[in-house]
Amino acid sequence: MMLHVPGVLTAAQVAELRAQIDAAPWEDGNATSGAQSALAKFNRQLPENSEAAVQAGAAIREALTRNPLFMSAALPHTVYPPLFNRYGPGHGFGDHIDNALRFQRHQNVRIRTDLSATLFLCDPSEYEGGELVVEDTYGVHEVKLPAGDLILYPASSLHRVQAVTAGERVASFFWIQSLIRDDARRALLFDMDLAIQTLARGAGQDAPAIVSLTGGYHNLLRMWAEL
Ligand code: NI
Repeated sequence: MMLHVPGVLTAAQVAELRAQIDAAPWEDGNATSGAQSALAKFNRQLPENSEAAVQAGAAIREALTRNPLFMSAALPHTVYPPLFNRYGPGHGFGDHIDNALRFQRHQNVRIRTDLSATLFLCDPSEYEGGELVVEDTYGVHEVKLPAGDLILYPASSLHRVQAVTAGERVASFFWIQSLIRDDARRALLFDMDLAIQTLARGAGQDAPAIVSLTGGYHNLLRMWAEL
């Protein structure tokens, strides 16, 4: 399941974060790549242990915990410390699937990547090209979102970033280990949660049918969650 999560950061939060990261020194994007992706990847990245990356990443993780749509869809166990990249003219990232496991020694984080996320930190009007292209069983999806919006997609997906032809594309990217490893189960729980919330607005949280459905949601979560 692919999901657009709007407004993870406000315009003011994006501006503050951009000021923080833009002033920091950046490095070649291949500093964190495996052998295969090093052949496909042309961009710049903020060093993951830099002060700016750690602080901006913490602000993003904090914003995510306050976002009900993200929390319901991702059911996060651990959110990897966000990384930051920028693609100028001629930069792009060819077809690849993200590594299954990620280790961040500095912050002692070790995850299985169930979901990949890109949080856009500039507006589509600031650059040409640079679409995130994700292929799944439902076809090919091109993604280019307003600053502050996030796209969430299964980390098992083949994806690429089209070459930027003008301007600059700045984004944060990271992975999530979910409490629910299986994408189909997670999607079912998400749909169920949204439907229960919609029904509860009409019938009230304490209507017997809503109590029963909410119990069903939690019992499925109990059956499937891996802590
Ligand atoms: Ni990737």
